Parts: sequence; C-alpha cells; structure tokens
Amino acid sequence: MYNYRMLEAARLEYVTVASVAELEDGQRKLLDIDGEIIAVFNIAGGYFAIADVCSHDDGPVAEGEVEGTQIECPRHGARFDLQTGKALTLPAVVDIPSYPVRVLDGQIQIGLPVE
Ligand code: FES
Repeated sequence: MYNYRMLEAARLEYVTVASVAELEDGQRKLLDIDGEIIAVFNIAGGYFAIADVCSHDDGPVAEGEVEGTQIECPRHGARFDLQTGKALTLPAVVDIPSYPVRVLDGQIQIGLPVE
C-alpha cells in the first residue's frame, strides 16, 4: 500500500519537517528522511506529501509542475494525484507513496509508517 494516509494512527510516526511560516502557499520542500526523498507541498493551505520517485522510471516527480492537486513528472509527463499518490496518466501505471500531513502548534508534520 502506497497511500499511507489510509493507515490508522497507531501505525504512523509523525516527524516535524517545517514550520507553517517556512512553507508558504504554492511552495514545496524536499526532505531526506532516512535516505528517502519526500516532498511536502502547500497548495492553498492544504498540505500534501509524496515520495520523490516516479513509478515509471524513477524520475524526480516532486520537481514537476503542479496544477490543482496534480503533479506532472518532468521526465515523461505522467501525472499523479498529490492527495493519494495515484497514477493518473501514462506512462505511469503504478501509484507513488503519499503520506499524511498534519499541523501541530504551527509545525508541519508528516506521518511515516512504522514497521
Ligand atoms: S520517469 Fe516519470 S514519467 Fe517517466
């Protein structure tokens, strides 16, 4: 399962990745969390997080253009839903990981699955 937003809270560990002030509307931030690159986005006050690895050919999908809550991989143009990680268009057919995001005391936190 790639959509970690569907995991129950007990199976998630939240880590702080930025303050709300650091990530303004329309901005994104790339994070290295234990060697995994994850990107967090602020889209009109909604926060979304995905892994920065395209399921088509490992492209840097998080660097792509955002339209609404969709992102387009800069390498071959596959589109993904930032909310769920769902692959929306070819050439990608496999979803990418998406993570729950919450704001606590002005801090943006990403939920990571615990083993
Ligand atoms: S690597 Fe992303 S569409 Fe090909």
